[in-house]
Amino acid sequence: MSIIFEGISKRFAHNTEREVAALDKVSFKVEENEFVSIIGPSGCGKTTLLRIVAGLLKPDTGRIEFPDREELPKAVMVFQDQGLLPWLTVLDNIGLGLELQGVSKVTRHAQVLEFMKRVKLDGFESYYPHELSGGMRQRVALARAFLTSPDILLMDEPFGALDAQTRIILQEELLNIWRMEQKTVLFVTHDIDEAILLSDRIIVLTDRPGKIKKIFDVPLGRPRELHLKDDPRFIEIRWQIWNLLEKEVRKELKLT
Ligand SMILES: Nc1ncnc2c1ncn2[C@@H]1O[C@H](COP(=O)(O)OP(=O)(O)O)[C@@H](O)[C@H]1O
Ligand SMILES: [Mg+2]
Repeated sequence: MSIIFEGISKRFAHNTEREVAALDKVSFKVEENEFVSIIGPSGCGKTTLLRIVAGLLKPDTGRIEFPDREELPKAVMVFQDQGLLPWLTVLDNIGLGLELQGVSKVTRHAQVLEFMKRVKLDGFESYYPHELSGGMRQRVALARAFLTSPDILLMDEPFGALDAQTRIILQEELLNIWRMEQKTVLFVTHDIDEAILLSDRIIVLTDRPGKIKKIFDVPLGRPRELHLKDDPRFIEIRWQIWNLLEKEVRKELKLT
């Protein structure tokens, strides 16, 4: 499922006098099954952009097009706090998306159990979220998101709250599932290395209102492995992105 962003602008009224411009004429195209990361200073409109794709918000001007299909695509969002329901077991949490789609209990359980096996979550069916580590909860959230077979996966700093080591493992896991499932992914992060390791392309946004500053093609093949961080191409693109981002973050902090 490809996505075309055409001149997306969005303002929010904070009170009767003051308006905040969150996004300013953002245009780009995400290709079918492409993994695209969005990086930019805090408050530059990244979450707003994902919410617009999900259909939760309307842009003031511009539009989103899904040229591959007549009907609206199914988009699913994954957040930093995993949005698991504390009173449901892992099995029921993972199956929640299917349940909302009206899939019967027997079919649902079969599908959930099969998927849990594939992502090595089997054995945790009857656990409750509070019995799991943050990393495990995020794995459950990933499983739930993929299991609903969305056309588009929208991920808003999904690993932001995890420690660095857990994060690396989950990045690897996300890439593995993504390779099996083939989805279009829009991934918001503020971690440059994470963006490079995961993405086909990286969109750098300016300080608010978010505009496209630059789009980078990641010049690395797949599968990606951690040692790529020592690859000269990785180091080069990391510096290029940091140079752009540093200026924008300084603007946001009023340091320039
Ligand atoms: N529902 C809302 N009402 C008012 N202002 C909002 C709302 N959502 C976002 N904003 C404002 O829009 C700007 C962009 O927000 P957001 O998209 O959350 O940025 P990011 O995710 O890049 O940190 C911020 O200034 C934020 O305060
Ligand atoms: Mg955000």
